[in-house]
Amino acid sequence: MITSEMSQFGEDGKEVNAAQVHASDVDASDDLGEREPLRRGRFGLQYLTEFAPLLSSSARMRAIRAVIEDIADTNATILIRGESGVGKEIVARAIHAASGRRDRPFIKVNCAAVPSELLESELFGHEKGAFTGAYRRKLGQFEYANGGTIFLDEIGELPLALQAKLLHVLQDFQFGRIGGREMIRVDARVIASTNRDLELALRNREFRDDLYYRLNVVEIEVPPLRERREEIPFLTSLFLTRFNKQYQRDKVLSPEAVALLLEQRWAGNVRELENIIRRLVVLADGEPVYAALRARGRRATSDPVSAASLSAPLSSDGLREIGRRGAQDAERRALAEVLERVRWNRIKAARLLRVSYKTLLNKISECELSPPPRPRPL
Ligand SMILES: Nc1ncnc2c1ncn2[C@@H]1O[C@H](COP(=O)(O)OP(=O)(O)OP(=O)(O)O)[C@@H](O)[C@H]1O
Ligand SMILES: [Mg+2]
Repeated sequence: MITSEMSQFGEDGKEVNAAQVHASDVDASDDLGEREPLRRGRFGLQYLTEFAPLLSSSARMRAIRAVIEDIADTNATILIRGESGVGKEIVARAIHAASGRRDRPFIKVNCAAVPSELLESELFGHEKGAFTGAYRRKLGQFEYANGGTIFLDEIGELPLALQAKLLHVLQDFQFGRIGGREMIRVDARVIASTNRDLELALRNREFRDDLYYRLNVVEIEVPPLRERREEIPFLTSLFLTRFNKQYQRDKVLSPEAVALLLEQRWAGNVRELENIIRRLVVLADGEPVYAALRARGRRATSDPVSAASLSAPLSSDGLREIGRRGAQDAERRALAEVLERVRWNRIKAARLLRVSYKTLLNKISECELSPPPRPRPL
């Protein structure tokens, strides 16, 4: 294991409070000293420089990193679970980068973003004339992933009919394109992810249990940010560096600002933190953002809706801006309410709100909403 810490920040939040976070505080190459030369060979530079550092600044993530390094070179199917925004995709990409497949494709398919009637063709392809509008042969993403990894994001949204087909593919890695006779053989590593309560979906017969067991050879649960707060200074520093570069700024955060970030509940997890830092870098005056964070902390609200306070109207704003924010808050509240009512079944929510699935996903992300934590099985 690479044991070196990622930066001058310890895991102890107090120590961190004393430090001023500068954009230059993060140096991913810290982890790459000559201490572990053998690791370079086994895992490749991209894994070591890009991913391993992201999985090194808390005990929980280091445990995940150890699992990744253990299983990267097996072909075991992996199910990654965790709330929205915790970093499931980062973990999937890290597994690919750590595996011998790293120089082959990493293909991501978001099962929730592709309309269900197109998903089969998206995954497995179709032959010319297979259905109206199939003017030419189309290869599926499984074929493109040959030799590499296919990441099936939001697997909990896979329609039942396709679950059966996927199960067969996972059993013998052969399938036919829609409308085709030929059986196609692929060698693809399958990683699936979900933030849904799959056990509940099993009980409701919305998810096949045979597929669940086949997918779940190795399960990686990525904890919410509130359970790995010691990462906040590192992540803050990382995002500060990234956005300073992207927006050509040179922002620095004070120890008080870091302390404030450490206090938050982060219902939207790392994605929410990333968005806040982006806002702080982009805005000339970050004070309104801090004020909203302070207010949120003071009220000790733990519901995701509290993020609405970040867009609370400021008295100095014009009427138009106040109106826009009011509408945004109302939209957010309606979205949260509907999602809660349908227990975060996004297909149902999109239907109720009469928006496309994609729009709904964008709105959820814009409003920084995330599903309630899943009760842990005993
Ligand atoms: N450990 C990390 N280090 C740096 N950035 C991270 C880390 N974890 C997550 N992020 C960033 O946070 C954002 C959300 O991460 P990611 O997309 O992996 O989450 P997710 O769990 O797949 O969320 P969702 O369920 O909503 O798809 C991304 O922009 C990602 O780059
Ligand atoms: Mg994701």
